[in-house]
Amino acid sequence: MPTTTGPTVIDHPLVQHKLTLLRRKEASTKTFRELLREISALMAYEVLRDIPMQEIDIETPLETTTGRVIDGKKLVFVSILRAGDGILEGMLDVVPGARVGHIGLYRDPATLVAVEYYCKLPGDLDERDVVVVDPMLATGHSAVAAVDRIKESHPRSIRFVCLLTCPEGISALQEAHPDVQLFTAAVDRKLDEHGYIVPGLGDAGDRIFGTK
Ligand code: URA
Repeated sequence: MPTTTGPTVIDHPLVQHKLTLLRRKEASTKTFRELLREISALMAYEVLRDIPMQEIDIETPLETTTGRVIDGKKLVFVSILRAGDGILEGMLDVVPGARVGHIGLYRDPATLVAVEYYCKLPGDLDERDVVVVDPMLATGHSAVAAVDRIKESHPRSIRFVCLLTCPEGISALQEAHPDVQLFTAAVDRKLDEHGYIVPGLGDAGDRIFGTK
């Protein structure tokens, strides 16, 4: 099984600028959601840098030529509910033809294990490349459980995209799934005693949906 060398940190100035604005506690729900969508679209450029392409013949107004295209339908974005939907929108802005899956997980309060309550994935995953999206890779429990589930359908490849992570989340995902390429906009200091990433941005779901 191929192993990864560590997360790819997308440190493009535009991503970092927008991330800083989004982290601020004063950012409104509208601002937070808009920035997350913009950052996700920018991150998609790096995440999808090496996806398969095919050559097709086209006619320009002057002559026939060969161009390269991606097959959006071979790409599947899988959102880990509910905060993953905040990244999903930006990814779909740049690949509108992608297929979409959803996985819902909650943390059992007694065992802290991630329990699946919803899963809907496109068919024929063995012919598709999967990009799993969740803004916060914190303990890594949901990420590992989601990737476990997706692997049951044997996709061609799996990438994992988050906005923020921390050393604990990186270790958990890479120990369980060393073949999954991890992309993030930042690696923060640590998890606090409540499982929040610090300095972080708070609860991503609450900030996206205004539920606090
Ligand atoms: N989930 C969040 O929404 N925020 C964190 O800091 C950690 C997990």
